[in-house]
Amino acid sequence: MRHRTAWQALGQNPLKVLGSSWPWRSFAYLLSGVVFGAVTSTVLVVALVAGLVSLVVLVGAVILLGVALSGVVVTRFERWRLRLVDLDPVPDPHRSAERAGLVGWLRTRLREPATWRELGFTAVSVTALWWMDLLVLGFALVVPVLVMMSPLDDPGAWPLVFVGLCLLSAAPYTITAWAGARAAVTRLMLAPRDSELGRRLTDVRASRARLVDAFDAERRRIERDLHDGAQQRLVSLNVMLGLARLDAEPDSALAGQLDKAQEQVALAVDELRELSRGVHPKALTDHGLAAAVENLAARSVLPVTVDISLPRRMPVSAETTAYFVIAEALANAIKHSEAMRVEVHARLHTDVLTLSVGDNGIGGATPEGGTGLTGLADRVAAADGRFRISSPQGGPTLLHVELPCR
Ligand SMILES: Nc1ncnc2c1ncn2[C@@H]1O[C@H](COP(=O)(O)OP(=O)(O)O)[C@@H](O)[C@H]1O
Ligand SMILES: [Mg+2]
Repeated sequence: MRHRTAWQALGQNPLKVLGSSWPWRSFAYLLSGVVFGAVTSTVLVVALVAGLVSLVVLVGAVILLGVALSGVVVTRFERWRLRLVDLDPVPDPHRSAERAGLVGWLRTRLREPATWRELGFTAVSVTALWWMDLLVLGFALVVPVLVMMSPLDDPGAWPLVFVGLCLLSAAPYTITAWAGARAAVTRLMLAPRDSELGRRLTDVRASRARLVDAFDAERRRIERDLHDGAQQRLVSLNVMLGLARLDAEPDSALAGQLDKAQEQVALAVDELRELSRGVHPKALTDHGLAAAVENLAARSVLPVTVDISLPRRMPVSAETTAYFVIAEALANAIKHSEAMRVEVHARLHTDVLTLSVGDNGIGGATPEGGTGLTGLADRVAAADGRFRISSPQGGPTLLHVELPCR
């Protein structure tokens, strides 16, 4: 297995760690930490003193502003250097400056919490971390070498050479362990907070909901076109056929054929009405969820108890989602459950529309068994809702959905 961080690598076989590049990477990480820490400390301390001393003139304020923003630059380098011991990149918590130019950049930076976190990290790094890097390197490498060299002064102390060798062979572990710990602290402090990434998360969710909404709007348009267009034409055709039928000789062949034509037209109207209900029921748009579900129940071959009591019309997207959940659950109960009755229940609990559809059938409903339930789960997820189903073998089946309605 490929390890992603120095610490993960420590968990493997001790001899393998020795053979890997991790101790060397850790060594480079700590050494560059010492060098960079020393340089940064010197520069910052000098800048701080110079800034305070010359504060009487305006220059001091500019220098201190630079010190305050030093974290942005220091941590950018720290994030880059972290790749030595932690292969996954740490995202930059800063947004791109809203307005171009130096002033825009400064204003954006000074308003972001990340800037101040980074200044905090720089302070810790300057005052503590690089010293500790230096101490660890010293203990791990310099002390064993000194111990090994002590027999040069006192030949009687030759066994110390072995002690030194043992200490030296532990060095890769000490160095890798400290580098791993330091990398973990660095990642913890420098990674963007959830809220800083949150903007992107909400964006994604909103666009998913938008897609479903656009799709529903299209369905409503098709339903309207079917209802006001094709259906109306067929109805007037039926009327015309009826008039022609009145003019035809009773009991003639023509009258018989006109009768047949009228029957066909009536069937076509029914089929079209059924079709447009599946696309987007007009009752839902015009009269709301309760009316549309009552319509569904009235056409169902199973007895359905509808108990929907809502204080007001719900947002269109919630109503549509709720309707399709109930329609699919009813269709499933009829097709698969062998139930004797179905119950539909809906209430609004402080901005959450709670729906349940239960049947007393054989149970065993699983989303893996078909496409209906998975489709519903997707739809509910896009509306930011919750979809649960309980359907043990032997029944009963209960489908429970919560939809936020704000
Ligand atoms: N109310 C129910 N009672 C018993 N079994 C059900 C019920 N609803 C669904 N199922 C089972 O779960 C499977 C998946 O349902 P679904 O995803 O709606 O697919 P479809 O209805 O297209 O077969 C169905 O094939 C059926 O075996
Ligand atoms: Mg189904």
